[in-house]
Amino acid sequence: MNDELAEAVEAEYTSLSALRIRMWAHREHSEFPDDVEVNVRAESDLLARHDVLDVGFGTGDFLKNLHAAGHSGRLVGVDTSESAVADLRGHPGVDARLGSATDLPLPDDAFDRVCARYMLYHVSDPSAALREFRRVSRDGGVTVVVVNHADVVPGVMGMVREEVERHVADPGVRAVNSVHSDNLPDLMGAVFRRVRVRRVDNSLVFHEPAQLLRFAGAVTSMCGMRPDAPERDAVIRSLTTRISSWFERNGGPWRDPKGYSICVGDR
Ligand SMILES: C[S@@+](CC[C@H](N)C(=O)[O-])C[C@H]1O[C@@H](n2cnc3c(N)ncnc32)[C@H](O)[C@@H]1O
Repeated sequence: MNDELAEAVEAEYTSLSALRIRMWAHREHSEFPDDVEVNVRAESDLLARHDVLDVGFGTGDFLKNLHAAGHSGRLVGVDTSESAVADLRGHPGVDARLGSATDLPLPDDAFDRVCARYMLYHVSDPSAALREFRRVSRDGGVTVVVVNHADVVPGVMGMVREEVERHVADPGVRAVNSVHSDNLPDLMGAVFRRVRVRRVDNSLVFHEPAQLLRFAGAVTSMCGMRPDAPERDAVIRSLTTRISSWFERNGGPWRDPKGYSICVGDR
């Protein structure tokens, strides 16, 4: 099961295109304006002189933005995705490394801030990853983890899951474990001296069927279908029909609740 999760996650991030679509949806279609990067920096009191590690950096935007803002401390990223590392490697001011959260290729006591945004729910052994975050933190250092609420965007996830189950003869493991806002504080409490939590509630709102379809096609891995599955076209055709008829019947917009927690652990 753990190997299957790692394989599903690796397949999902062989290309970053679905991740970029999900990021577009959250940036352009959130009901209330919200910037998770700003919140992470504020909640962890991240200063320009801090040595920062970003685990599971994805597109690397967080580190690139810190560099662009004049960050003077070290900026290091670790990700299991070769595409992510290739994209970020060579970017000025940022050290991008291939490696896993559960076995960080980094020495003890090296960072003031360890950030893991939207990635712990992809890890087979989340507690082992949290222990690694603590190991590489300096005395007085802080680890900041962001995960989604349980049952995030239930409307679209339910619809995609139904279509995957209908079309895919042998749906694979979903590319997510079960770490979410409700259980992360206890997981972190077992590793860190003190944990603070901030919850942020919001919704995704789509006014046009094409917007919802674009997002739905980018969450199939979280619903048990790999990006290269032969049934993909059939699933997308069914989703197109369902989404069009939903908008014809209801006129829109499609509103789906979402939210996340920022958990800050003091070493
Ligand atoms: C949902 S993306 C989040 C990217 C970025 N943190 C953000 O918030 O935009 C998850 C990222 O975590 C990476 N990842 C998944 N499992 C990992 C692991 N065990 N160790 C390091 N990175 C991992 C994926 O390759 C992907 O780039």
